[in-house]
Amino acid sequence: MKKPSVYVTRMIPAACLDALRAHCEVDVNPDDRALTPDELMQHVRGRDAIISLLTDRIDGAVLDAAGPQCRIVANYAVGFNNFDLAAATERNVILTNTPGVLDDATATLTFTLLLATARRITESERFVRQGKWEGWAPMAFVGLDVDRQTLGIAGLGRIGKNVARKAAAFDMKIIYSDVRRDPDFEAAVNATYVDKATLLAESDFLTLHVPLLPETKHYIGAAELRQMKKTAVLINASRGPVVDEAALVQALRDKTIWGAGLDVFENEPALAPGLAELDNVVIVPHIASATTETRLKMGEIAVRNILNVLQGGQPDTCVNPDVLRQPVGAGA
Ligand SMILES: NC(=O)c1ccc[n+]([C@@H]2O[C@H](COP(=O)([O-])OP(=O)(O)OC[C@H]3O[C@@H](n4cnc5c(N)ncnc54)[C@H](O)[C@@H]3O)[C@@H](O)[C@H]2O)c1
Repeated sequence: MKKPSVYVTRMIPAACLDALRAHCEVDVNPDDRALTPDELMQHVRGRDAIISLLTDRIDGAVLDAAGPQCRIVANYAVGFNNFDLAAATERNVILTNTPGVLDDATATLTFTLLLATARRITESERFVRQGKWEGWAPMAFVGLDVDRQTLGIAGLGRIGKNVARKAAAFDMKIIYSDVRRDPDFEAAVNATYVDKATLLAESDFLTLHVPLLPETKHYIGAAELRQMKKTAVLINASRGPVVDEAALVQALRDKTIWGAGLDVFENEPALAPGLAELDNVVIVPHIASATTETRLKMGEIAVRNILNVLQGGQPDTCVNPDVLRQPVGAGA
């Protein structure tokens, strides 16, 4: 019997591809770059399943290009704002993500950004490398304390909770805002549920862990930045458009807030004009889940979902569950 055909839009760990190749014909984008939308349309044609990245927009046009035999698109990410959920459900295509396995890595990177920003790590490292250091100085690179400060968390989901647990090591006071309350977790880490205005006004460090949705686009803009403390630090390891990056550049320039640590950007890989010139921002290139173990586990979930579905079973982590209630073969 002919093996099903799977397309992988960019290289993922070899062990994951081997597991897939045991049951499927697999083609992988050979170039170490994201596909253009046109290339994506060409390469998905006739595939039974696709492993996509957060940089691949999976909409009705792409699914139509793939064809009606395509059963599943497995995102190699927990965030799935690159998916058109309705278009996939309409076409009876299952969409999946990789929740849970990247919580530790993402929360650790969040804390890395928080500490690096507070203690001016990248700025002072640049200074040393540039040969400018002339010895210990009482007023040089004075930063912020982290211990016992107030950590504000926007979006207390899997990653937000992991960050909250890590903050306990610094004896931080935790406040959070979310569309849902979690009283059990509040009790476990001594966190306080607050409204957005209080979150903005009281956080010494504000970290964002909401998904990118129409209602979270520019969750932080010029008005919100003005409501924050002048000594506050903003951390974003969620999705770039959650922050109005141009407004953030202005706020960092004007010292409306003290600093920022960013893993994600509004128009990746481009940065808002002026951002890279600022010393009070720590910038890394969307690496929150980039550890060997985590990337392997993300691939394992994507592969398991694909094999389950192609063998007539259910995926573990479906993000458009309505599709599972439709009979196989329904949809266009
Ligand atoms: N930088 C990276 O590489 C990286 C890695 C992993 C995840 N992420 C991002 O982090 C996000 C969160 O991941 P997660 O696994 O914790 O997701 P999750 O679904 O477990 O948590 C999201 C939380 O945000 C809350 N929320 C939703 N809409 C909200 C709103 N309008 N206002 C306030 N709260 C709201 C939800 O109720 C939930 O508690 C992902 O969607 C993804 O975009 C980024």
